[in-house]
Formats: sequence, C-alpha cells, structure tokens
Amino acid sequence: MRLDKYISQTTDFSRKEVKKMIKNGWIDVDGAIQTDAGSQVMPGQQVCLDGEPLAQPGPRYFMLNKPQGYVSVTKDANHPTVLELIEEPNLDKLQIAGRLDIDTTGLLLITDDGQWNHAITSPRKSCNKVYHVTLAEDISNETAPRFSEGILLDGELKPTLPATLDVIYANEARLTIQEGKYHQVKRMFAAVGNRVVELHRERVGDIVLDPDLAEGDYRPLTEAEISSVQP
Ligand code: URA
Repeated sequence: MRLDKYISQTTDFSRKEVKKMIKNGWIDVDGAIQTDAGSQVMPGQQVCLDGEPLAQPGPRYFMLNKPQGYVSVTKDANHPTVLELIEEPNLDKLQIAGRLDIDTTGLLLITDDGQWNHAITSPRKSCNKVYHVTLAEDISNETAPRFSEGILLDGELKPTLPATLDVIYANEARLTIQEGKYHQVKRMFAAVGNRVVELHRERVGDIVLDPDLAEGDYRPLTEAEISSVQP
C-alpha cells in the first residue's frame, strides 16, 4: 500500500496533511525516515509518526459493553451514540453489527468489515443471539413452546424463527433468537402478554461479552472471535 494511503487509513489526518508530514520527515518506516508519499509499505513493516508506531490498516473488529442511554447509530441529533464510546481513528468507517435499543445493555459488535457484519445480521445466516431478559410478569408455561414454534409479530408476514427460552427465575430468562428484527425480543414477549423491563445481550454466535469489560468499555476482538464468524 502507498505510504500516504496507509497513514490516512490509520489516522484522522487528511491526505493533504499526511503528504506534508511525510515531506517534513516526520514519518519513518522500520526506523528509516521516508519522504516519498508514493513509496510502498510492505506487510510486516512498522510505520511510525514522530517515533510513535501507527496501527496496521485493515479491517477492525471491536466488542463494546453497551450501557443504557446510547443509540446504536453512527449519528443522532438527540442522544449520544455508541461510537462516542470508541476512541479510534476513522470512526466514520465503522458499522454497528446488529443494533441494540437505547435501553438495552451488553454485547455490541462494531467493525468496518461489511461482509463480516452481514454474516452476523443477515437472517439467512442464522447467527444466534443470546439475551438475558427480565420481565414485568412471571413467565407463563406457554411462552417457551410458542417461542420455539415461532410467533407472528405485528406487521410481519412470516413468523419468527424457532427461539429457545430457558427460564432462570419466575420473571427472568435467557432467550436465544436467530434473527434481529426491530425490537424483536420486546415484541415477542408482548405477543404473549408480558413486558420486557431489562434486556442485556450476552452472546452473538460464539462471541461472548467479556466479563472484564465494564459498561461503556470496549476492546478489539481476538483472532479466534473474528474467525468464529464465517462470512
Ligand atoms: N430485541 C429488542 O427488543 N431490543 C434489542 O435491543 C435487541 C433485541
């Protein structure tokens, strides 16, 4: 990759600023100052700005422990967005892989790899999402069988795909669903006469929310977590 492109992709500097920095001798590649913006950076080479190593360009993958009060969109006039919790360059390139409602907490995946995002969110890929749900009313005996048969939600043409409900206490359960329809968990419980009061996502596919992540914190995914999702 061209040196100026490499630096633009890994920082928030404009291409014009990057060219100036290179010309001024602020950039070194493997310890040697490089003043040619068009020179090639080879895989494995370390590019430094003012002696500080830059991240490798390429797809990025993060998990965030989403707190309440943040919206899962990239821009919003009225509420803070989850991207405000992420301190990375080129935030505008990041996408949210499977949104959570403003009042839902837990595992949110963020990436700039569109295919990987699609593998998580496409209903055709059947990627399981596991939620811990707290309800206003005790869970009736008919809830688990109805969820496993599939429920026709208001305004939908097809019933939900089979979902698994594991009751933990009278009004608390773990629900595994394969899709991510708008407000799906809340609408499923509403359809059986109950109401979700707390919703927390624990897992997406094989990726489990890291217990060491405090609310509002994020970390890069491990190689194993990234490759557990097959685009
Ligand atoms: N289902 C919902 O109702 N809300 C969420 O945030 C996620 C799934």
